[in-house]
Amino acid sequence: MSLSDTYTLANGVEIPVVGFGTWQTPDGEVAERSVLAALKAGYRHIDTAAAYKNEASVGRGIAKSGIPREEIFVTTKLWNDAHSYEAAKKAIDDSLGKLDVGYLDLYLIHWPNPAAIRENWKEGNAEAWRAMEEAVEAGKIRAIGVSNFMPHHLDALLETAKIQPVVNQIYLNPSDAQEEVVAYNKAHNILSEAYSPLGTGDIFTIPELKTIAEKYQKTVAQIVLRWSLQHGFLPLPKSVNEDRIIENAQLFDFELSDEDMQAIDQLKGTAGQASNPDEKAF
Ligand code: A2P
Repeated sequence: MSLSDTYTLANGVEIPVVGFGTWQTPDGEVAERSVLAALKAGYRHIDTAAAYKNEASVGRGIAKSGIPREEIFVTTKLWNDAHSYEAAKKAIDDSLGKLDVGYLDLYLIHWPNPAAIRENWKEGNAEAWRAMEEAVEAGKIRAIGVSNFMPHHLDALLETAKIQPVVNQIYLNPSDAQEEVVAYNKAHNILSEAYSPLGTGDIFTIPELKTIAEKYQKTVAQIVLRWSLQHGFLPLPKSVNEDRIIENAQLFDFELSDEDMQAIDQLKGTAGQASNPDEKAF
């Protein structure tokens, strides 16, 4: 396997097995420079969101790389203020305009249950999904999916969806492997993408990981990202430092033993857990 190898999504679209995360990456020069560094290091998959407020800078980084558009996989997401048919249509066009990449490879509903429509989340998702399906038919988007969805949110979406979701991007790392959601995704041919694959930096404090890293002569980040890949997840590590961006891509010259995979599986709760999307204040 290598950084440009792909998983095949349920709709046939190929998606590079590691993505470059940009959550909490400041807009402007930092976002542009880190995306450029990631593409230089060999990443071919960039993940952003309207809510990250850095789409324009991410798009500039992509453009400056000079890499042909079709060689890069670009994901962005629908924010919580756009869970209606008209608002979602506009949000898709807004993201396309900011990124300026011609089309989106993947577009996700960012949260299943925005606080402002807590009583009507099913309708909100169904409406947004209808706009997303139309954008697929219009050639604006190649694949659609969701993020932070639990099984009951997906069950509701599947009641009216004409196009099946092919990705569910969730908080996923050794401290919270979200077994129930992952099993649901698998049963429905939905790829589990891992955001916060390094626990937003918190996994570095787990002593067991340091021991395993020493054994393989790898860094803790590399061990945890390799664990994610060996589970068949698609990790989206974020960094704004070029040396770490490079480090997080060097995952293909070693393999974790079954025993060490199982040891890492035992680390649940040691560095934070996913929050409940039905209880979020936004
Ligand atoms: P920075 O962006 O300053 O490099 P996650 O991908 O789980 O969201 O984690 C991102 C956090 O982990 C950021 O704070 C990032 O910091 C830090 N980080 C990313 N890669 C590494 C690495 N290889 N070693 C140490 N810290 C890292």
